[in-house]
Amino acid sequence: MKTLIYAHRGASKYAPENTMPAFNLAYEQKADGIETDVQLTKDNVPVLIHDEMVNRTTNGKGFVHDYTYEQLRELDAGLSFHYRFIGTRIPTLDDLLKWNQKKRLRLNIELKNSKLSSNSLEEIVIKKIKAFNMENLCIISTFSMNSIKNLCELNSPIPYAFLTSKNIPGFIEKSKELRASGIHIRYRLLNRRLFRSAKNNNLYIAVYTLNHPVTLTRAFQFPCDAVITDVPDIAVRYRNRV
Ligand code: G3P
Ligand code: CA
Repeated sequence: MKTLIYAHRGASKYAPENTMPAFNLAYEQKADGIETDVQLTKDNVPVLIHDEMVNRTTNGKGFVHDYTYEQLRELDAGLSFHYRFIGTRIPTLDDLLKWNQKKRLRLNIELKNSKLSSNSLEEIVIKKIKAFNMENLCIISTFSMNSIKNLCELNSPIPYAFLTSKNIPGFIEKSKELRASGIHIRYRLLNRRLFRSAKNNNLYIAVYTLNHPVTLTRAFQFPCDAVITDVPDIAVRYRNRV
C-alpha cells in the first residue's frame, strides 16, 4: 500500500503557507494532496488561513472573523515569508477548489473551529465541495469532537477525520461511533498499539507533521495511510526508497 503524501498548508517550507504559490509548488513536487485550514470571514466567506489572527502571516492585524472578505483580500500574505511573494493574497476555498478542477489532487480541508465557534462552517464547506463535484477528492478534518458530531449528523457523502495531538481516552472508538473515516494524529502518538486499534476499528491513519527522512521513513514502513508534510519533495524521495 502506498502512503499518500499531503502537503501541509501547501509546500509550506518553500512558499507562504496556505497560498496558491504553496499549492502550486506542492503539485509540482508531486504531492498526492494538499492539507489546508479553513475559517470564515465576518461575511461568512470560507478562506484558507491557519491562525485565528492575520498578524503572523500577513501585513494586517486582528481576527480573521472581524474582516469582511473584501477587506481581507487587501492584505498581503506573501511578504512576511519572502519579498519574492509580495502581492500574494489569502485564497478562498473557492479559489482552491477551482484550481483543483484541473489538478485533481486530494484535498484535506481542516475546519479551524476548535477555539472560536463557527457554527455553520461544516455546512458551508460541504456545500462548496459539492458545488465543485469534488466529494471524491476531499476529506474534512477537525480537532473538535463537536464538529465531528455535526458532520455525522449532516450525513454528507464527504469523509471526515478526527484530528488530535493527544491520546484522548476512547477517541478511536468515539471517532468510529461518529462514523469518521480516519484519525489524523501527531507523529509522537504513532505506535503499534494505536495503529492496530485504529485498524481494528476500520479507521485510516494520517500522521502530521513529518519533515525529516527518519520520521517519514518510519511512517512509510508502518505503513500509515497518509503523511502530512511541509516538504513534499523530500517525502516523495523517501517514499520511493521504502
Ligand atoms: O492537519 C494536520 C495539522 O495541520 C494540524 O495542526 O496546527 O498545523 O493545523 P495545525
Ligand atoms: Ca492544519
